[in-house]
Amino acid sequence: MFERMSLYQKYLLPKLLNWAMKAPALSKLRSELIPSAEGKVLEIGMGSGLNLPHYDGISGLIGLEPSEELQNLAEDMLIQTHFPSEMLTGSAEDIPLESNTFDTVVMTWTLCSVTDPVLALSEIKRVIKPGGKVIFAEHGKSPDQNIRKLQKTLNPLWSRIAGGCQLNREIVDLYESSGFKFKSMERGYLEGPKFATYNYRGVAALR
Ligand SMILES: C[S@@+](CC[C@H](N)C(=O)[O-])C[C@H]1O[C@@H](n2cnc3c(N)ncnc32)[C@H](O)[C@@H]1O
Repeated sequence: MFERMSLYQKYLLPKLLNWAMKAPALSKLRSELIPSAEGKVLEIGMGSGLNLPHYDGISGLIGLEPSEELQNLAEDMLIQTHFPSEMLTGSAEDIPLESNTFDTVVMTWTLCSVTDPVLALSEIKRVIKPGGKVIFAEHGKSPDQNIRKLQKTLNPLWSRIAGGCQLNREIVDLYESSGFKFKSMERGYLEGPKFATYNYRGVAALR
């Protein structure tokens, strides 16, 4: 059983994620959010590189991604960027980079999957320059009681089939309690099942 799950996670899940993350509603959000990235950019959980075509006028990008298979899927797009770019293997909880380095950190639909979101946000705080910003889009806890109940019920199974993804992360609380303030923030349901599509997106900065 364990072997079957790990083969699923290693080979099939990256392809499923690549397909699911190409949903038109997500592409629209990428096109609205990502062009405001500036300067030196770190993208956390870069996945298959679907944000890459939306960067405009940045000085360089490092994409951090733990999955080798997703890195392979991102490679073609990485080669085509008009700015210096590279991929690094690593996790948000232990960013293998120096402090005070990045003007912009980008993290889209990834905080749901990191094992320790508080540690991840403290690492982001460490690597961002004073005056820098985080561009984010995440799904998370719904404001509706019935949907919250469903999220709680589905979470154990969902996280097993969706690479550790938690349906009900408290995105606003996580950012605020980690020392960020929102420069902009919008929330609401996107297309799709309500338990997985309550979305938070915007720009956060250090308080
Ligand atoms: C739903 S996918 C989103 C991918 C990409 N950010 C996008 O917008 O298409 C979640 C991503 O989080 C990555 N991930 C999971 N755990 C992580 C961790 N601890 N640190 C960094 N990335 C992680 C996964 O490998 C995957 O690329």
